[in-house]
Amino acid sequence: MTSETMMSPATPDAGNVSRLVMVYRIVAALFAVAILEQALTASLGLFDARPNLIDIHRQVGDGLALLALIGAGIAIYGNIRGVIGRRLLWIAIALVPLVIGQLMMGYATRESATAIAWHIPLGVTLMSLTTANPVLAALPARPR
Ligand code: HEM
Repeated sequence: MTSETMMSPATPDAGNVSRLVMVYRIVAALFAVAILEQALTASLGLFDARPNLIDIHRQVGDGLALLALIGAGIAIYGNIRGVIGRRLLWIAIALVPLVIGQLMMGYATRESATAIAWHIPLGVTLMSLTTANPVLAALPARPR
């Protein structure tokens, strides 16, 4: 059976369960790609003077706050159902305040150099968490 999945394939709703794990994996993979895109749009927007890329950075950033909430919702529901482990649950929950903080700091970069000084290292932290997330979600199941 798939990673993080505890139910046996013989269980009647095993199909729903593996769909839940699959949806979580897709959300986690999307998140990882989007954070990479955020670093790229910010760098090109700033250092290549392309303000339209900063607009994209801001819009994707707004969307990521929603994606973080969706990911946490799936992880909580999946954990209750016994198909998403605690490691993924904590990562998904931690992403909510971290991404909201990143968004608030992002808007504060317009007036504050301190905000940008925090926005970049937090972006790097988010990159490591969101890279670990889909990798862990793809690992074979193990007892928790
Ligand atoms: C969840 C991830 C992120 C969110 C929600 C986010 C959000 C934002 C927002 C809302 C702004 C303000 C844009 C504007 O003034 O119109 C901003 C600016 C900025 N962000 Fe991010 N960001 C994220 C990730 C990153 C990452 C990973 C990096 C780089 C490692 C980064 C670097 C920057 C920089 C350099 C600016 C300033 C751009 C400027 O002054 O024109 N951001 N961010």
